[in-house]
Amino acid sequence: MPHLAIAGGPPLLPQPQPRWRWPPPDDGTHHAIASYLAAHGPLSPRGAEGIIGECEVALATRFGCTHALLCASGTMALYSAFAALGIAPGDEVLCPAITFHATATPLLHLGARVVLVDVEPDTGNIDPAALAAAITPRTVAVVTNAMWGHPVEQEAVRACCDRHRLAWVEDVSHAHGAIWHGRQVGTWGDICCMSLGAEKMLTGGLGGALLTSRRDLYERAVLVGNYLFRSRQRTDGGDISDPRFAPLARTGYGLKLSCHPLAAVVIRHQLTHHFETWIAERHASLQALRRDLADLPGLQPPTIRAGVESMGAWYGFKPWIDSQSLGLSRQRIVAALQAEGIDIDVASSPPLHHLALFNGFPLPNGRTPQTAPLGSFPAAERYASGLLSVPTYTGARDEQRRRELVAAFRKVWEHLDEIPR
Ligand SMILES: Cc1ncc(COP(=O)(O)O)c(C=O)c1O
Repeated sequence: MPHLAIAGGPPLLPQPQPRWRWPPPDDGTHHAIASYLAAHGPLSPRGAEGIIGECEVALATRFGCTHALLCASGTMALYSAFAALGIAPGDEVLCPAITFHATATPLLHLGARVVLVDVEPDTGNIDPAALAAAITPRTVAVVTNAMWGHPVEQEAVRACCDRHRLAWVEDVSHAHGAIWHGRQVGTWGDICCMSLGAEKMLTGGLGGALLTSRRDLYERAVLVGNYLFRSRQRTDGGDISDPRFAPLARTGYGLKLSCHPLAAVVIRHQLTHHFETWIAERHASLQALRRDLADLPGLQPPTIRAGVESMGAWYGFKPWIDSQSLGLSRQRIVAALQAEGIDIDVASSPPLHHLALFNGFPLPNGRTPQTAPLGSFPAAERYASGLLSVPTYTGARDEQRRRELVAAFRKVWEHLDEIPR
């Protein structure tokens, strides 16, 4: 009688685990929304008044920057950041070869040239040596992503940007509050952007933020995505102190990229009441998972380097499968685990050079998006080819599922020979 469900044996869990969801149900969030509506809080933002400004102050304070600007999404925060930096057609911006596509796609709309850079084999983060090697006289900026919560080599990237006078946009969508050598990610670059949507630890469902300690960049970002109330001069109740922008008081640059006030209610509530607890709970659960999976041959739990003092929001738990040494494809192993009833999948972020948008698929206006000739990115390829995606279990509410996951891995590893090749 086979042991593994994929081979016809009994599954570990007779009822498959339901898909893991985030954020957890929370009466406090219901109450915060109901109170806001009961107080007749505006559903359309009036500049930085009310909940928008309150949430921005809370974000800036928690994440160690002077200014925060809420945006409609992380993508729009990144667009605002690149536009605020004045990135123009023909400018080259260095970007990791593997990340969520929106780390780079706003650049394509600004006509910039995205130059992909290979990543470190263990963290998936931009490789500082490859970064330095990719700089040309046209390079103006670097954008990084702290993949799945792991900070980049922060000092090395900072030093490279200083040496070559490059702007640095830190995408910390996966790593709200992560700490590298005593300093928060997001405070090392010129601008920090974060998604506050989907299943990010802080999430309004849709939302994003741009943080910076540079007033000039903050004001330009405000003007990119806000008009009327916020684009006015400060003397007139707005947000802009630079008198050169007085003519834009009414329009800003004419786009509306602002965040919905109800999303701000939710984000502010999570930040004030849950964020620190969630981080502690998630770290305890995922560190336990790392330990519990550490001895399985051919499976590499996520790396955490010595400089990492906190993975912050730790957005993804992605063990890496060495399918060559196991003699089995990643898909077969995932199928075997799924057949046992657990919630697991292959990780979904492909390297960017696999995507049509980075291969010349025309933009809506017919222009070809600008990317440097795509070379080969062997580390990004290898990294992407082995990743598994496991829910980021967080605390006691997920404890049973975490144990089931470990039990399923152990069962499958004991009987790898039963998996059909
Ligand atoms: C690293 C990274 N950057 C940017 C984004 C885009 O954020 P949003 O979906 O809020 O636009 C995401 C979304 O998942 C992301 O993971």
